[in-house]
Amino acid sequence: MSIRIGVQSRLFSLETKHTLYQMKADEMDVLLHTWYGPRTDTDMSYRIRTVNRGFCGNLFEAQNRVDYSLDTLPQEFSGNGTGDYRSAALQAESKNGSRSVDWRYAGYRLLKGKAKPAGLPGLRGNEDTEGLEIILEDRAGGLTAYLLYWLFEEYDVIARSARIENRGKEDVFLTKAASLCMDFPYGRKDVMHFQGRHAMERIPERMKVPAGGRLAFESRRGMSSHQNNPFIILCDPDTTERQGLCHGFMLMYSGNHLEEVSEDQTGSTRVTCGIHPEGFRWKLAPGESFQTPEAILSCSTEGLNALSRNYHRIIRDEVIAPRWHGAKKPVLVNSWEACYFDFDAEKLLKIARSAVELGMEMLVLDDGWFGHRDDDTNSLGDWFCNETKLGCSLKELSERIHDTGLQFGLWLEPEMISPDSDLYRAHPEWALADPGRGPMVARHQLVLDMGRTEVRDYLFETISGLLRNARIEYVKWDFNRSVANIWSQSLPEDCQGEAAHRFMLGTYSLLERLTEAFPDVMIEGCSGGGGRFDAGMLYYCPQIWCSDDTDAVERLEIQKGTSYGYPICTMGAHVSACPNHQTGRTVPLETRGVVAQAGTFGYELDPAKLTEAEKETVKTQIAGFHRFEELIAQGDYYRLDETEADYISWMTVSPDRGEALVSIVATHVRANGLFPYVRLQGLDPDRIYFREDTGEELSGAALMYGGITLPPFTGDYPARQIYLQRRQEDPADEA
Ligand code: GLA
Repeated sequence: MSIRIGVQSRLFSLETKHTLYQMKADEMDVLLHTWYGPRTDTDMSYRIRTVNRGFCGNLFEAQNRVDYSLDTLPQEFSGNGTGDYRSAALQAESKNGSRSVDWRYAGYRLLKGKAKPAGLPGLRGNEDTEGLEIILEDRAGGLTAYLLYWLFEEYDVIARSARIENRGKEDVFLTKAASLCMDFPYGRKDVMHFQGRHAMERIPERMKVPAGGRLAFESRRGMSSHQNNPFIILCDPDTTERQGLCHGFMLMYSGNHLEEVSEDQTGSTRVTCGIHPEGFRWKLAPGESFQTPEAILSCSTEGLNALSRNYHRIIRDEVIAPRWHGAKKPVLVNSWEACYFDFDAEKLLKIARSAVELGMEMLVLDDGWFGHRDDDTNSLGDWFCNETKLGCSLKELSERIHDTGLQFGLWLEPEMISPDSDLYRAHPEWALADPGRGPMVARHQLVLDMGRTEVRDYLFETISGLLRNARIEYVKWDFNRSVANIWSQSLPEDCQGEAAHRFMLGTYSLLERLTEAFPDVMIEGCSGGGGRFDAGMLYYCPQIWCSDDTDAVERLEIQKGTSYGYPICTMGAHVSACPNHQTGRTVPLETRGVVAQAGTFGYELDPAKLTEAEKETVKTQIAGFHRFEELIAQGDYYRLDETEADYISWMTVSPDRGEALVSIVATHVRANGLFPYVRLQGLDPDRIYFREDTGEELSGAALMYGGITLPPFTGDYPARQIYLQRRQEDPADEA
C-alpha cells in the first residue's frame, strides 16, 4: 500500500519505491510537514521539537504555549499573517482588506485515477494512479485548499499541486498561490539552479543556502525563460553526481515562476515554488476555484545522476504524449542557419536533394515563408504562404519536398504579431498593450493576447488550414521575445492581475486543441532556442530546440546543464556549419556529430555546400546515429565528468545493461597531455563487456571502478565514442 493513513494519529505517509513523504495534522489542526526522504517506516514527527525562540508569535488557541509557533514548525502549506515569518505558500486579500490566511486541517480523500490539473498540463498517469487530497480551511476567511499528491511509485516521483476554492460569501483576491511549500528542519543545504541567457541556457550553479537569507530563482518574462529554468535541486553539501541526498523541484509550467529557497533562524530550509506572485492577482468569486500548476518532486539518496534519471524516466513516460513514446524521430535539416530569410523553392529543393543523398529524412522550412517576410520586422500573424517569394504554393512545395524522399516541417510563431501585419491592421486589440501607452516591441514584434477566445480560434483555424492543406509532419513552435505590457482588453480592471496566467492557459488550450486534431504532427518547442524549455511545453512538444547557440563546445555545457532535469530525447541538437555562426569557432565535423547525438540529432546547414569528404563524414555520422538511436533515446544517461578534467564525458546504458555508448569531447588539449580517464557507470558489475574500439574484454566492475583510459588528445576539440557490449553468457558458465 503506497498511501498509509493513521486515522487516530492523522499521519499521512506516501511511499514510493525508495522514498517516504509524510505529514501530520497536530493537536491545533495545523498540517505539519514531517519528512520527505528515504523510506523509514517511522512516524517522523518525533523530530519536531518546540521551544520558545523569542519573537515568534503563538496561535490564538495556543496562547499559553509560548513554545508553539508556526514560525518554527515545519509547514506543509504555509499561510500568511499567522506568525510564520518565512515565505508564504498562499497570500490573499479579503474584501475587508485582511491578508491573513490561517490553514487548518479539515479532512482528506483518497484518490484513484490521475486527473490532469484543470486547464494545465500534468503528469499523465492512468486509472490506477493513486493520489491523496488533503483539505485545509481558513476558517475565518472562507478559503479552502485542496492539496493534491499523486504517486508515481516506480519513478520515485510525487506530483504536487493545490486547488484553492472560495467557499465564503465575498470575492477574495489571491496574490500568491504557490504549488508547494516544503520545510527541511535540520542540516545545511546546497541549492542548484539552472541559469543563463539567450544562447547560453541552463548553466548549472550550485551554492549554499544562506543562513538567515533567501534566494529567489525566477522569471517575470511571461515565459519560463532562458534566464532561470523552473527547476531546482536541493542537496546535502556532500552530495555529488554519484552519491548523497538530493531533492528535485520541477514546476510543470511555462510562464512566470518563482522558486524561493531560504534558511531561517532555526537552521530550517524552506522551499516554495509556483507561479510568480509579482503582478499576479486572481479574483475568486464565491464558489470559484484556482488550480496551481503541478510540481514534479523527486528524491534520491544516490546522488545527482540518479535524481536526473528519475526525471528523465518520468518525462519520457508521463509527460511526453504516448504517441511519441519510443518513436523514431527523423534526422532533419533545418533551413535557418542554411539560408536565414534568403530562399525560394528551388534553393530549398536543392538542399532537399543533397540532404536525401546523405541520409537525412526531413526538411524543416524555418522563418521567412509567410506574409512578406524577408527579415524579422514584419508579418507575424499572417500565416499565409508568400508564393511570390517561394515561386509556388506551400502545398506544392511540401509535395515536391516529399517527392525528393524527405518529410516536410514548418516554422510558426503562433503567439506573436508584427505591427506590420494584416492581422494587426485588422485587430490591433488582439495584442497585449497597456491603455494609453505604446506597446513595448521586442524583435519588432508584439505578443498576442492568448487569453482571448477569438485569438485562439483564429490561430486554430489558420494553423489547421496549413496542416490540412500542405503535407506537414512537423511544426517548430517558436516564441521569440519576453512578454511585457501584460494588460488585456478583454479583462475588467480588477482582473488584470490574471492576464499573465490566462496567457499561459490560452497557449496550453490552443496546443491541446491542435495536438488533439493533429496527433501525428510532431511539434518541436522553441523560444529563441531554449527560452521555454520546461515540462509544461514538453507535455505538448516531445522535443524542444535546446539553444540558438549551435557551437558544439558551447552545447556541451548547455546540454549537460539541461540533462539535470530533462532527458536527451527532448533536446533539439543539430550539427551546424563552421566557423560557427554564433561564436566563430571551428570544431571538427565528427565532434559536432557526437555532440548533436546527445540530443535529437539533425543538421542546421546547407548540405549542398559540404565538400565531398565532409559528405562522406555526414553519411557515416547518420549511419552511426541510426545504429545507436534507440540506445541514446531510451537508455539511462550518466554524466561522467571527473573533476577539473579537460574534457566532458557522458554515457548511455541500455535499460537491460546489455550495451553502452560513452562519449568524450576534449575542451582543452595540452602539450604532453595526460591520459583522459573516465570511470563508467550503470553497467552490470558481474558481467564482461566487449570494448569495441580496443577489442578488450573487461568486467563491468573494472570499467566502473577502474575506469577506462584513452590516448592523450591532440588537435582541436577531438571527440571519441566508445561502444561496449555485454558478452553473451557462455552456455558453459550458465551450467
Ligand atoms: C529563433 C529560433 C531559431 C530560428 C529563428 C527564426 O531564434 O530559435 O532557430 O527559428 O527564431 O526567426
